[in-house]
Amino acid sequence: MSNQVVNKGRRQFLTAATATVGAAGAVGIATPFLGSWNPSARAKAAGAPVKADISKLEAGQMVVVEWRGKPVYVVRRTPETLEALAGHDAILRDPQSTQSVQPKYVDSRNRAIKAEILVLLGLCTHLGCAPKYRPEVGAADLGGETWLGGFFCPCHGSKFDLAGRVLLGVPAPYNLEVPPYSFEGDNVIVIGVDQEAA
Ligand code: FES
Repeated sequence: MSNQVVNKGRRQFLTAATATVGAAGAVGIATPFLGSWNPSARAKAAGAPVKADISKLEAGQMVVVEWRGKPVYVVRRTPETLEALAGHDAILRDPQSTQSVQPKYVDSRNRAIKAEILVLLGLCTHLGCAPKYRPEVGAADLGGETWLGGFFCPCHGSKFDLAGRVLLGVPAPYNLEVPPYSFEGDNVIVIGVDQEAA
């Protein structure tokens, strides 16, 4: 069974190589995707790192990887997205992530080691639901022209931008968490191993 699924916008899914993990691995719609380690159940329970090959992840797409029983979102952001991230601090609760959990080696605004690759824990900082990936700028059901693309938590309506930063006026108190991670080469992310220790 795959522990990784891909979600582009609402309904487009990418199929690629299969990853192998336990039954708890499927998050959302289980679409086989990336090759990864297959640590033993015991190792996973102990928090073994998880590798994800993102070579087939296209701009604008998201893959979900299970790590320590939690969903980790990996998004390849577009140049337009990165440009937009610099322009809406006024609608964010914590634009520089000073109150939010992220490793010190990620950039404070893009919240990433490599700007185009976003890695987030897919758990809402309100009560822990899994926010939906909603990158469509101007989505009518999320406020129309005020929606700049991001993540929407269906449980109580929290909204986050495409760096996982929480918008003002929603229940979630903090930005989505950035887990420890590192790169092996250009296309393999190791979730659970800090960049400095890689
Ligand atoms: S759990 Fe996400 S808004 Fe409440």
